[in-house]
Amino acid sequence: MNVPEHDIVIVGGGGAGLRAAIAAVQADENISVGLVSKVYPMRSHTVSAEGGAAGVVRDDKDDSLDLHAFDTIKGSDFLADQDVVEAFVKEARDELIQLEHWGCPWSRDEDGRISVRAFGGMSTERTLYAADKTGFHMLHALFQTSLQFDRIERYDEWYVTKLLLDDNGAACGVAAINVRSGVLHAIPAKAVIVCTGGGGRIFPFTTNAAIKTGDGMSMAYRAGCPLKDMEFVQYHPTGLPGTGILMTEASRGEGGYLINNKGDRYLSEYLPGKMELGPRDMVSRAFVHEEKAGNVFEGPYGTYVHLDLRHLGENKIDEKIPFVRELTKNYVGIDPVYEPVPVRPVVHYMMGGIHTDINGATPIPGLYSAGETACATINGANRLGSNSLSELLVFGARSGQHAVQYANETKMPPYSSLEHMVVDEEQRIENQLLKNNGTERIADIRSDLHKTMDRGAGIYREEESLKATCAEIPKLKERYKRVKVEDTSSVFNTELTAALELGSLLDIAETVANSALLRKESRGSHSRSDYEERDDKNFLKHSLAYHNEGGDPRIDYLDVVITKWQPDERKY
Ligand code: FUM
Repeated sequence: MNVPEHDIVIVGGGGAGLRAAIAAVQADENISVGLVSKVYPMRSHTVSAEGGAAGVVRDDKDDSLDLHAFDTIKGSDFLADQDVVEAFVKEARDELIQLEHWGCPWSRDEDGRISVRAFGGMSTERTLYAADKTGFHMLHALFQTSLQFDRIERYDEWYVTKLLLDDNGAACGVAAINVRSGVLHAIPAKAVIVCTGGGGRIFPFTTNAAIKTGDGMSMAYRAGCPLKDMEFVQYHPTGLPGTGILMTEASRGEGGYLINNKGDRYLSEYLPGKMELGPRDMVSRAFVHEEKAGNVFEGPYGTYVHLDLRHLGENKIDEKIPFVRELTKNYVGIDPVYEPVPVRPVVHYMMGGIHTDINGATPIPGLYSAGETACATINGANRLGSNSLSELLVFGARSGQHAVQYANETKMPPYSSLEHMVVDEEQRIENQLLKNNGTERIADIRSDLHKTMDRGAGIYREEESLKATCAEIPKLKERYKRVKVEDTSSVFNTELTAALELGSLLDIAETVANSALLRKESRGSHSRSDYEERDDKNFLKHSLAYHNEGGDPRIDYLDVVITKWQPDERKY
């Protein structure tokens, strides 16, 4: 069966993908979009975003676009491209108001104005929220808006295995398995937008859903597109030990404290000017120092500190952060109205991703990307909490609009030109995964990947352990060639999906570890205990990791764009 062709195929049905789809069909009344997603859009990871989305919408908060831009750039440890940040803060405001018009139920103050709350590293209250279920409500608003357009055709539970390129190296569609039937199809397109989220699942302890396996990043990387700034992995300071479930930063934005085993608000030692509202990289490092000093609690799932919300009172907790109460009651049997909540830093977000320009365009003609999958770059070495929901709106919209311009100047690839590519891809999957007579278990390789990433590329890194991780990953890739997929059935073969996802994890893990090994400085989330200082002379640069079949990725560098904020010491 031939799948209908679409002017634009979007891979990923979360916030960025939906926003890109809406932007594309609104930009041109003749454009058709295929929205391909390995899960139903409402199950994408955007749904679990909690605390809010940043934007300058209030005129009574001593705020300005320049201040939002400066906070973002300082938060990024001066690695963000400043022209992109300036565009981002301007368009974030408009996007958030538009989302209101599409039905997003932002929380409101008594006087009816949209509420804003404080978030880490922001100079003023500028994070819009819908209680602490912001991602859920934003995703609903986007999804229901997308349903207005019958030119957005959805392929839910289709797993894209490969980006297809024509003879000139331009994107011309994707190969995707309909998971329900197990059949691999070519979906021809004039342009492709990848919006598949990050790949936090390369680590064992993460807030990321099981679906966040870096598939889109891997797909672009294998097609020759570099992955930018992959060494920068964000730890969120407050995850529930064991599960990694996010205790939103909104809990601290609303006034929650972090307390060590001495009963102290220990951040007074590290971030006296910001306390619990410091940026995530610094608050997470403070935990490690407290751990070294023996100031943390020991539990069945490792060490932790307390997130204390009791002084906020039941009414405020129920109104502002009800999900926190729901989650802690259900998952750890603790009611935060009466007891402190155990928390520890947890892998949350990848600042790096598919290298794009300000419009979401990658170096591959016809290939665009937005959201956590992409690196545009506004987050640099450390993202400020609540910038990512706004980011997916701004760059989802930009990539959708620019993909339309590209598609309108491009011819549809004939289906026949894609057929042989799909046959090749089918054979690759069969030979490599379904019929390789291998003995290696998916879970074993994944678990060894987790161990080595945790040891080598955690909150603190250094040469020796990074080298060990870089040396281990090729061995895991060798083992992956012998991976065993016992289920050879067609319908909902989730074991095959897990095997394909493992391939993506291995790809992006090698870019994280190798980029981190070569960045011999400490900047933002990348803290080298052997190179403790930031080194602007040598490393005020983006890293670009290029796929190199059979070897380590090739790492190149690209200058950072500075407009008006010269790099300065980052103090809070
Ligand atoms: O803590 C949070 O609610 C997370 C927000 C974010 O990562 O932007």
